[in-house]
Amino acid sequence: MQRKAIGLIGWGTVGGGVVEILSRDRGLFAERCAIDLDLTTIVTRDPGRVREHSAGSARISNDISAITNDPDIGVVVHLVGGTTEAKDLLAACLKAGKHVVTANKALIAVHGDELFALAAQHRVGIAFEAAVAGGIPIIAALRDGLVANRIHAISAILNGTCNFILTKMEQENWGYDAALAEAQRLGYAEADPTLDVDGTDTAHKLAILARIAFNGRIPLAKVRTQGIQQLTAQDIASARTMGARIKLLAVARQRESGLELRVAPTLVPLDHPLAAVNKNANGIAIESSSAGPTLLTGLGAGALPTASAVLADVIDVVSGRYQATAGAFRFFHGGSDLAFVAEIDEVTATYARFVVADKPGVLAGVATALSKHGANVLSIHQGQADPAGRATIEVVTHPLRLGSMQAAVNEIDRSGLTITTTTLLRRL
Ligand code: NDP
Ligand code: HSE
Repeated sequence: MQRKAIGLIGWGTVGGGVVEILSRDRGLFAERCAIDLDLTTIVTRDPGRVREHSAGSARISNDISAITNDPDIGVVVHLVGGTTEAKDLLAACLKAGKHVVTANKALIAVHGDELFALAAQHRVGIAFEAAVAGGIPIIAALRDGLVANRIHAISAILNGTCNFILTKMEQENWGYDAALAEAQRLGYAEADPTLDVDGTDTAHKLAILARIAFNGRIPLAKVRTQGIQQLTAQDIASARTMGARIKLLAVARQRESGLELRVAPTLVPLDHPLAAVNKNANGIAIESSSAGPTLLTGLGAGALPTASAVLADVIDVVSGRYQATAGAFRFFHGGSDLAFVAEIDEVTATYARFVVADKPGVLAGVATALSKHGANVLSIHQGQADPAGRATIEVVTHPLRLGSMQAAVNEIDRSGLTITTTTLLRRL
């Protein structure tokens, strides 16, 4: 039996999950992998804070040198969020010759190229299975199981917090704020939940998947990103009447002229498998050249599912498997310069909700602009005005070029017919 000393930086939600699993299942790892995982040191901002699970005999410190100066520690589990201090901590471990396992997708998406170059320089690795889709082994699936395929497209639900909010709003009539607060309480949300609800976290994850799937650098600015903050109970109910469910969908699709990358709330037909992915679950549908369609679902956020992925990486690294597979490939090592395309040429059915003043001519104005841009309306409905005289016009169109519908909506918003920016959703 080999004993392997582990260091942990960050004893928060996911760090707590790692401590819990290690104290509960250390014997399982010994039995299954003949490896004794020994968590010897924890570095965390507030070492004095009482935690839910005991860390046994591990030393607890707020000084990173407790890990970087310890020659016994070969792998460091890095579970600190953000891209500043977290980057310095990760870099310090690499420079000290330690392999790093991280769940920090913002760091990998924003600084991955630089950090992987640093890791190569110090002959160590960075493993990041937990950074995308929590407990679902999607990085391993792309890296290993599907390595013989060209990836044509990825369509995915990648943020547990948003999916939880949308599910609670739809299925239990919760308000947006209450559902977000519950996602925070359950440990799904980022320290700054704006990153979840504005789509940034999903964009980080999509950029990481696309980096692997399409073998090239993915500047984050190329991921067109829209969040869920604008969605209302009315949008969600209207989706149901259209036989669909709204999901924050990440899409990476190889088109003839380049790669299309986007994150946007999308109407997913109820008979599509991703429509059945609810609460804090994530789902990833992959279209590839030989395996064809592949679907992975599972829990995308929360302490234990994420810690499961972290520990899979730890075992990969301490057993030498990581160095033999991921380490041998060109992960975040250069890669080609990809061409990117905008999504405006996509042809899709759409739903638009216009908030307007309840006065004569407004409905006609909306209809005229839609017609001018070639939108063939399937249904149009104006609801009762509220006491402030604001009414909602909901429009569903037949499939059309998304760019044409967006141009119509922009024209209507600019013309002063609408009181707030119009919500426009596409259909998967
Ligand atoms: P938390 O905020 O719960 O925990 C972060 C931990 O980092 C805290 O324990 C904090 O210490 C510690 N910390 C902060 N700054 C420092 C520092 N300078 N030195 C040492 N420790 C520090 O975050 P999560 O556990 O939720 O997330 C951790 C990472 O995992 C993030 O990158 C997140 O995006 C990612 N992730 C999270 C998932 C989830 O479901 N929560 C799922 C997948 C990825 P202290 O407690 O002592 O103050
Ligand atoms: N905040 C993230 C989410 C954590 O809700 O999906 C998992 O990456």
